[in-house]
Amino acid sequence: MRSKITVVGAGFVGSTLVQRIAERDYADVVMFDIVPNMPQGKALDMLQAGPVLGYDTLITGTNDYADTADSDVVVITSGFPRKPGMSRDDLLKKNQEIVTQVTEQVVKYSPNAILIMVTNPLDAMAQVALKVSGFPRERVIGMAGVLDTARFRTFIAQELGASVRDVQAYVLGGHGDTMVPLSRLCTVAGVPIAELLPAERIEQIVQRTRDGGAEIVKLLGNGSAYFAPSASVLQMLDSIILDKKMIMPCAIYLQGEYGLNNLFVGVPAKLGAKGLEQVIEVELQEQEKAQLQKSADAVKELVNVLGL
Ligand code: APR
Repeated sequence: MRSKITVVGAGFVGSTLVQRIAERDYADVVMFDIVPNMPQGKALDMLQAGPVLGYDTLITGTNDYADTADSDVVVITSGFPRKPGMSRDDLLKKNQEIVTQVTEQVVKYSPNAILIMVTNPLDAMAQVALKVSGFPRERVIGMAGVLDTARFRTFIAQELGASVRDVQAYVLGGHGDTMVPLSRLCTVAGVPIAELLPAERIEQIVQRTRDGGAEIVKLLGNGSAYFAPSASVLQMLDSIILDKKMIMPCAIYLQGEYGLNNLFVGVPAKLGAKGLEQVIEVELQEQEKAQLQKSADAVKELVNVLGL
């Protein structure tokens, strides 16, 4: 039997993700949204691309959680965009409400699912979902690190005229201004970038990576990134659905790893059919440890505002 994936939120990130999953042809997909008829319309449109692109993926759009029953993986992208005049904390609380409601419904119908969180602020929303679901940490994973790392790899490859496939890198920490791009471990076809670029140029690229989301928000004028975010979720799904055991940076509820406790922070994680299968602990230098701690403190501040 084919796997079943539900995507909650049929907005820019959610619907782009569903189209990408359909093209993989390895699972059927349910796309849920609260807006009446909209997910049904998008699903029908995507279904009709199947004969042209050659996939048999069954895509169902719905406003009824019953249709999401027995999903193997549920991706939560539903959220409220920041409106003028709204503070960061207002947005935080509004999205806490949405993620709480959604998680309650999702776990009622799919008690064994693996949850992948996408709604921002990512690390805090993952913490909401973990608490509301009561799931073990192996089944609540946040998407941020793959995207942040992809941005870093893009800029390095552009700078060197290299293939993105040859650029390996890790961005750790929370998904925000305090993220920690580990440039020391970045290599191009095995060669450390410190041997390929001057330190100040690497620092500029690190800064552009930190501002990667904001740069796109500014250009779009209305809305935020969705092509690279949806591609990043797809990489996590590939490893889970096909049990590939790939290692990639994900937001994980840490329990002592990296000296951090009871908090979602981006770290390298092995993903497979069971969800999180191993947290990979990389030996960090003192300065990197301090940066990771600072990033964790920023996440902790949001979690405190939410009263979690
Ligand atoms: N239940 C289900 N869906 C909901 C709910 C809810 N309670 N509340 C809102 N939604 C839906 C909206 O109807 C909308 O279709 O969530 C969707 C969000 O889509 P967009 O506004 O297009 O936002 P998008 O760009 O997809 O970003 C979604 O991902 O990257 C993050 O920061 C981003 O938190 C944001 C999320």
